[in-house]
Amino acid sequence: MDAEPIVLGLETSCDETSAAVLRGERELLGHIILSQDEHELYGGVVPEIAARAHLRVVGDVVDGALRQAGLGLEDVDLFGVTAGPGLIGALLVGVSWAKAAAYALDRPLIGVHHMEAHLFSVSLEDAEAQPPFVALLVSGGHTLLLWVPEWGRYRLLGATRDDAAGEAFDKVAKILGLGYPGGPEIQRVAGDGDPAAHAFPRPMLASTQRPGDDDYYAFSFSGLKTAVLTRVRELERAGTLARETANLAASFQAAAVDVLVAKTMRAVEQTGCRRVLIGGGVAASRALRSALGDAIGGHGSLYHPRLRLATDNGAMIARAALFRHRRGERAPLDLTARADLPFPGLESP
Ligand code: KG4
Ligand code: ZN
Repeated sequence: MDAEPIVLGLETSCDETSAAVLRGERELLGHIILSQDEHELYGGVVPEIAARAHLRVVGDVVDGALRQAGLGLEDVDLFGVTAGPGLIGALLVGVSWAKAAAYALDRPLIGVHHMEAHLFSVSLEDAEAQPPFVALLVSGGHTLLLWVPEWGRYRLLGATRDDAAGEAFDKVAKILGLGYPGGPEIQRVAGDGDPAAHAFPRPMLASTQRPGDDDYYAFSFSGLKTAVLTRVRELERAGTLARETANLAASFQAAAVDVLVAKTMRAVEQTGCRRVLIGGGVAASRALRSALGDAIGGHGSLYHPRLRLATDNGAMIARAALFRHRRGERAPLDLTARADLPFPGLESP
């Protein structure tokens, strides 16, 4: 049998430049994740700045991961790179780099779908995190509820109709005068607040909804963000905003988590599968993990990545590339980045 392949995974879709050296399915030999903090100045990711920052560091990040692994570029058997979705200028940096390396070394290249890669994050550390499962992918750009009967087959149950879950955390943090990214900030401040202090709406969630209704699994977060903004303006006029920040953060977080948990549990009931996997940056939320864990209960399993693998990273890209490579796929040398790359193997209901 051949030795386990060495996979180099490269991620540059948003504001993390990351490279990983993975041997086989789980042996992470090197892993560098460099977060661009200059976006904090602007309260969100500035695409042009992101692309330039990736360009500046991509070579060093790959070198760093290889150095940790004690390997050279010529030891890499397979290259995997995020080809989309994401910011086009940022994606192009990784794709161009990986194409050049794969071509120069005559190694296969896989263009990875960023959200499919998030599904693989947990399996890097937990061999049990395999389908079948219900998956909730919640990041800064996406909110997807999927039924995953096996790797490569994904049934889309629901998605957001407006803002993504992480985007809602980021925007509400901005409204509350907190830093970027908003999720960790909201979590920190919410620790001192009362989640029942403000009765925010649970958008798209009603007890009258029935399976088959087109909003049964759908999400919407922009109305919740507006409700927070309206309350902030009222408190501002009353001069009591400053002492309400923790309560506002806790109440918003509770509303967002309630909806995510309720819709995920609908999928659990309908599929009869009490195995749930969460991925994407919002999967780092302690409130989400604990509420979902309670809802699933002792007879089920919740698979969540630890913090470093919840947010964007090269390891999940390498793992997804290995999966696609084993299925006989290979990117053509005219592979290009696509901001709206379709999810591979996605079946709509
Ligand atoms: O997956 P990710 O790193 O990047 C994208 O692909 O978008 O996700 C980033 C998102 C941000 O919106 C951030 O606010 C959110 O994940 N996030 C959290 C938490 N940590 C990160 N949201 C809620 N609670 C957290 N603890
Ligand atoms: Zn992501």
